Amino acid sequence: MLSMIFACDEVGAIGIDGTLPWRQSSDLQFFKQTTLNKTVVMGRKTWQSIGRPLPNRRNIVMTRDDGFSETERMGFEQVLELAQSEEVVIIGGGEIYALFLEHTKELFRTVVHTRVEGADTFAPEFTHLGFHLLTERTVAAGPNDDHAMTFQHWIV
Ligand SMILES: NC(=O)c1ccc[n+]([C@@H]2O[C@H](COP(=O)([O-])OP(=O)(O)OC[C@H]3O[C@@H](n4cnc5c(N)ncnc54)[C@H](OP(=O)(O)O)[C@@H]3O)[C@@H](O)[C@H]2O)c1
Repeated sequence: MLSMIFACDEVGAIGIDGTLPWRQSSDLQFFKQTTLNKTVVMGRKTWQSIGRPLPNRRNIVMTRDDGFSETERMGFEQVLELAQSEEVVIIGGGEIYALFLEHTKELFRTVVHTRVEGADTFAPEFTHLGFHLLTERTVAAGPNDDHAMTFQHWIV
């Protein structure tokens, strides 16, 4: 099964200059809980922005660079095949979300209550794909968060 997790601002922005546009420690905690002990798939740019393998998860990177050997690498079809036998979580960025959106059955979206100036990467538009909102929980900004946020769980 393929699932997807991302945090976006109120108009869908997820990134700026190769990094996250905010400091949201509570969302990073949620990300960790949701992905722990699972297989995560990311694009090469997201891999570079994280800068290290995510611990206690199988880290798979997508790149067209045949020389890439920093961690496991897979192509589109291989990821889909793997998702037949286990839960695979797509963790970004913009290119990789767009690539797998149609095949995604479950979506974890954190709406960060802000509007980022000058964002250059955006979440995929999924409202036309028949997803419905299962749960939603809004929390105030904690001491290490820039903004309040709403955790949403969508399924097809
Ligand atoms: N807010 C969030 O939840 C969140 C989550 C993750 C990332 N982000 C942000 O998103 C931004 C990065 O996103 P991005 O869209 O620029 O890059 P990305 O999706 O992380 O990576 C793009 C790269 O993936 C590889 N790729 C794409 N399609 C492929 C395919 N069909 N087969 C094989 N490889 C493929 C290519 O790597 P090569 O160029 O090496 O061939 C491409 O340059 C950063 O700002 C990051 O901080 C935000």
